Amino acid sequence: MMPVNMSVIGAGYWGKKVIREILNVSRTTGRVNLCSVIDNSPSMLEQCLREFGPLDYRLSYQGLLSDSTTSAVHICSPNSTHFEVASNFLRSKKHVLVEKPLALRSREAEELVRLAAAKRRVLAVGHVHRFNNGLNELRRIVQSGILGDIYYLRLQWTGYLPPQKDRDVITDLGPHPFDICNNILGTWPTKISCRARGYRGGACDEVAFITAEHIDGVNANIELSWLDSEKHRDVTVVGSDAVARLDCLDQKLVLQRSEKTETISTVPSNTLQEEIIHFVRCVENNSASEPYSNLSDGGIGAGVVRLLEASKRSMLEERTVQVRPSASEELVAGEPAQIGFRKFPS
Ligand SMILES: NC(=O)c1ccc[n+]([C@@H]2O[C@H](COP(=O)([O-])OP(=O)(O)OC[C@H]3O[C@@H](n4cnc5c(N)ncnc54)[C@H](O)[C@@H]3O)[C@@H](O)[C@H]2O)c1
Repeated sequence: MMPVNMSVIGAGYWGKKVIREILNVSRTTGRVNLCSVIDNSPSMLEQCLREFGPLDYRLSYQGLLSDSTTSAVHICSPNSTHFEVASNFLRSKKHVLVEKPLALRSREAEELVRLAAAKRRVLAVGHVHRFNNGLNELRRIVQSGILGDIYYLRLQWTGYLPPQKDRDVITDLGPHPFDICNNILGTWPTKISCRARGYRGGACDEVAFITAEHIDGVNANIELSWLDSEKHRDVTVVGSDAVARLDCLDQKLVLQRSEKTETISTVPSNTLQEEIIHFVRCVENNSASEPYSNLSDGGIGAGVVRLLEASKRSMLEERTVQVRPSASEELVAGEPAQIGFRKFPS
């Protein structure tokens, strides 16, 4: 099979990690080929040249739109550019993996989903914990019934960042916890209440406390913070028979029952590498018109953007808000794996 020719847009902190992984996957599997690296900052491209050696480096992605060599792009530019860049590539019939959040506004996210369907191209979002083995094991445990009735979830997504200018903590840290709840429970919340604020003089919120109400009275309590000196990426699920605790960083899962505590052994995955390999498989299957479940489908990304919007609305209006239904209802109601399922003719 020919390798998927992929380019990376945005070569900052995260883009460089992505480039490293694509080069790794290319070396080890031969299924992907890194075509071009685009960043509108010359100094970023110089850093890349020093680290990755000679590649096709460009300051603008415009030329790639009509370049038939690239069939897929991984977009790692700032959140505010996601919609513009992704919609341009989808219109040019490229397959697109967009970093989280899929877009800043739900109508933009839904437009990307619509465009991908109309152009029959893969749209995926960088919800990298979909590929976390610890989380996959936690989902299996929750769905197996070992925990009994699920009462509530607690997610702590914290760490220290200096004051930020153009970023807020809900947009930046919120996507992963919301996506994880959807992944574990298979549902989207219907109501959200959120309190958030900034402390260090900037206009942006630096801490947020969100309660997301899922069906059957299951609540998810989410703490987001850039002020805590300790980095946490923790998920706790409290049930009637047991409690499961997962550290998403080392993927260590602990199950506590009244009589004993056991560590569930999982082999930690390289989540970013798995995400890229999965996207490549989606592109290969799409090109062969084979049905294939996209685990991080754009529809899931759009669902999460609606929750970010609802959180901000709740914060501004100081009340619990209903989550707005999606333009196409199945994006809210469907199981994640089914949302991703698409079969396109060639
Ligand atoms: N999945 C994760 O866990 C994870 C972690 C960190 C960041 N991210 C996401 O990755 C994205 C980038 O974050 P970052 O921390 O690397 O930011 P960054 O500021 O370090 O990098 C962004 C880069 O994009 C470049 N850029 C800006 N506009 C561009 C354009 N129009 N065309 C090409 N390049 C452009 C900038 O010059 C910069 O080098 C964000 O969407 C962020 O949410 C995801």
